[in-house]
Amino acid sequence: MNLFSHLATEPTHEDLFAGAVLMRGLALAQDAEFFAAVERIISAAPLRHATTPSGLPMSVMVTDCGTERAFERRWDPASPQRARLWPPMPRVLLDFALRCAVRAGFPEFKPDTCHINRYQAGTRLGLHQDRHEIDLSQPIISISLGLECTFLLGGFERTGEVKRILLEHGDVLVWGGPSRMRFHGVKPLKPGDHPMTGPYRYNLTFRKIA
Ligand code: SIN
Ligand code: FE2
Repeated sequence: MNLFSHLATEPTHEDLFAGAVLMRGLALAQDAEFFAAVERIISAAPLRHATTPSGLPMSVMVTDCGTERAFERRWDPASPQRARLWPPMPRVLLDFALRCAVRAGFPEFKPDTCHINRYQAGTRLGLHQDRHEIDLSQPIISISLGLECTFLLGGFERTGEVKRILLEHGDVLVWGGPSRMRFHGVKPLKPGDHPMTGPYRYNLTFRKIA
């Protein structure tokens, strides 16, 4: 946590690109509630290793929650039985995601899923586009909890220029509209020990997948 985030009492509102908004500290006021909800989701639907599109295990661990309709339609078609473990999206998370969407200029956002990533020291996420969702007019809302990371927000080609963004505990990042298909990723996590999450960074992304 840097000096700025300690001193900041009001969340920021930074327009990074058209449709991409960073609201630092917006989740801080309810961080313990959100983390408790994450722990409940994980106890119902245990973390598993994500796999690459070609089926190789990745170091990032993932789980999900959301509506039955969402998981029936999409996301993990190879393992419909796993999707059946998804608990419903906790109200406290859904309400917050809707508030974030309004602040970022997406009042129509109707997420049906919250996908959770857990990073530990060394875990990275290569540059990719989020293209599993059917309705690309809906944004992605991302909440970071725990250890900080360097998030990369690029352009529309994998090889384009990338903006490096420090994401800390409580930060909210939204990408939608003209930024919806921007490449993005996470640099290898640095080791650390966070008072709430220990050696991990959790990222929650709210999406409409069905
Ligand atoms: C993602 O790209 O799906 C997650 C990004 C993050 O962990 O911040
Ligand atoms: Fe992504």
